[in-house]
Amino acid sequence: MKTTQADAAGLAAAVLALRSGALVALPTETVYGLGALARNESALKRVFEVKGRPGDHPLIVHLPDASMLDQWVLDVTEPALALGAAFWPGPLTLLLRRHPSVLDIVTGGRPTVGLRIPDHGVALEVLRCCGDGVAAPSANRFGAVSPTRAEHVIRDIGDRLDPARDVVLDGGPCVVGLESTIVDLSTPTPTILRPGAVTAEAIEAVLDARVHRTDHGPSRAPGMLAAHYAPRCEVLVARGGIEADTLAASRRSCGQTVGVLSFDDLDEFARRLYGALREADDQRLDTVVVVVPPATGIGVAIVDRLTRAATGSARRSAP
Ligand code: TXA
Ligand code: MG
Repeated sequence: MKTTQADAAGLAAAVLALRSGALVALPTETVYGLGALARNESALKRVFEVKGRPGDHPLIVHLPDASMLDQWVLDVTEPALALGAAFWPGPLTLLLRRHPSVLDIVTGGRPTVGLRIPDHGVALEVLRCCGDGVAAPSANRFGAVSPTRAEHVIRDIGDRLDPARDVVLDGGPCVVGLESTIVDLSTPTPTILRPGAVTAEAIEAVLDARVHRTDHGPSRAPGMLAAHYAPRCEVLVARGGIEADTLAASRRSCGQTVGVLSFDDLDEFARRLYGALREADDQRLDTVVVVVPPATGIGVAIVDRLTRAATGSARRSAP
């Protein structure tokens, strides 16, 4: 696996790698993705192997622009056009009825396909040069915290990539830091399956209609398991600084090493959360106590990921 800066030579190597059926880890505004050409079945199989991801978990297809939508979906509906116009390029994934040509390995055999145009110059340039969709899940091992820097990718999956063929493109830290908002537009009422930087309120304003917010039901995103996005250390959530200090003190009195995470600014919280959880693991902390933010704006997505991280670590430390 080659790690390369996202300069002209790096971009050219990445495009060549994708076109030859190899994998490219590339930066987006949300998190780093592990990309393969979305019409190359053997490359897509390797994405699942490298991540250790169950085969029925569908992949998001990344496009360079909305003009390609009709190659991927049956009907480009009005709500899809309106949300795309409002938020693309950006941290929004739309689930739409799939075109018959879309591979089952991309959709997990489902009737829908997830599509997104990322808001990152490097990703967009790679996509434009490939001239086709690139399927890219987050570039981490299944169940772990998503990578927001190239070095996170290398540490998670570097030894599982092929040094002779695959490429990691280093485009610096991701500016959003949490995965995209996923909206299912295939149901009568649009449903948010994963909260992200594009909020429910912003989506409702564009659609001029209410949306459901759930991760349950038949079209629930399979990646939205209760225990997910978890570091190795135990994650505890606290409702404020005083509760965080009390929790930390009680764990320390049992001999544990404990870190406390708290941010005033929601965007900074989102951007730094995954890196901070990884650092807690690097420092071999037993427990990290996180002060939950208010569930407004991107705070909804932060609370969602923290709850899953806490559930994941609680399950692992259960007897
Ligand atoms: O921000 C993001 O969305 C990042 C960057 C790389 O674009 N990608 C990402 O991909 O987070 P991934 O695979 O780690 O998470 C995508 C989630 C998974 O839970 C997957 O099951 C769900 O979206 N998903 C994708 N297509 C779907 C579909 N057709 N139906 C239901 N769920 C779908
Ligand atoms: Mg993921």
